[in-house]
Amino acid sequence: MTSPATPAPEAHPHHRRGLFETGERIQLTDPRGRLHTITLEPGREFHTHRGYLRHDDLIGRPDGSVVTNTAGIEYLALRPLLSDYVMSMPRGAAVVYPKDAGQIVQMADIFPGAVVVEAGVGSGALSMSLLRAIGESGRLHSFERREDFAEIAKANARAFFAGDHPAWSVHLGDLVDRLPEEVEQSSVDRVVLDMLAPWECLDVVADALIPGGVLICYVATTTQLSRVAEGIRAHGGFTEPTAWESIVRGWHLEGLAVRPQHRMHGHTGFLISTRRLAPGVTPPERKRRPAKGSRPEAAGAGSSDDRLGIDDGIADGTESELTGESTAASGGFDDTEWTPEALGERVKSDKRIRRLRRSLTGTSDG
Ligand SMILES: C[S@@+](CC[C@H](N)C(=O)[O-])C[C@H]1O[C@@H](n2cnc3c(N)ncnc32)[C@H](O)[C@@H]1O
Repeated sequence: MTSPATPAPEAHPHHRRGLFETGERIQLTDPRGRLHTITLEPGREFHTHRGYLRHDDLIGRPDGSVVTNTAGIEYLALRPLLSDYVMSMPRGAAVVYPKDAGQIVQMADIFPGAVVVEAGVGSGALSMSLLRAIGESGRLHSFERREDFAEIAKANARAFFAGDHPAWSVHLGDLVDRLPEEVEQSSVDRVVLDMLAPWECLDVVADALIPGGVLICYVATTTQLSRVAEGIRAHGGFTEPTAWESIVRGWHLEGLAVRPQHRMHGHTGFLISTRRLAPGVTPPERKRRPAKGSRPEAAGAGSSDDRLGIDDGIADGTESELTGESTAASGGFDDTEWTPEALGERVKSDKRIRRLRRSLTGTSDG
């Protein structure tokens, strides 16, 4: 019988417990707090300009050990947490940061056993959080239109989970084309979109979601946020969306100098969430008047509060004012401008991506 203090062995242990083993990625912290990530291999050494450390001195040691290199420098050795791992793993595309992945898992209500759809896969950071949350009894269908990114993501996840996660299916191609081929209508509990133009996918997402299912989108700019919010309203099969961002500020803890850290990630992205209505149901009429100036016809007519977009909550809005695509809602941009560069993303060259893919998987498309 298994005692309560000894959890049952998992079918897929994912290197999370026990002594350090060959092939595991281990995080070393030096006396200055700098992090170094190594993959344990018998006979290998970790060199710095001040001495070296034998991997054999770590293999077989417990998590949280301190090891000393040939110059007498001590290193703290720990298994990386998922949040450490995603920040240090090789990236093809920008990753969802742990603070946002945590929000997504919680606010999209990702539960053990859930059927979840995700697009795009990018570097696989969010996929790993989703897999953790659904567990082996769930199913994560991840869609990615770039084969090289899909390969990088799979390699990253394989290294973290010490093998292919049994609940994960990665599908190549555009979500709009592939989702109807891969999942039955009204069979998906949750959808998470991290891509440039999530509004293009709303019809297929609505078909795939169960009534009451959650859609959450992660976007980097307010122009995308506005466009997807208007798209959700115009679709008619979703609840009124809610949007937010989270700002996390680390703290410096040194003697009496207890204060916020000087540096922080000022901006990562916005989240917007909505739920699928039952088939044939239309959303209840909104009883909230949009701020004057939030539509072109009202622009210029408002007070200073209106210009700031402050909503007075008076119940006299009409449906025509509240729904529908408009150029103002999309920031007046043409669709052809929705490129990573136009949205300010740093884009890696194809050459760098090919090199990364080769180093992770041993393959390249040339
Ligand atoms: C920012 S990355 C995703 C990062 C990922 N969430 C992570 O945490 O590592 C956006 C990805 O979406 C993919 N993408 C964009 N539109 C897509 C679509 N319609 N269908 C499938 N993939 C798409 C892009 O190729 C890109 O890899």
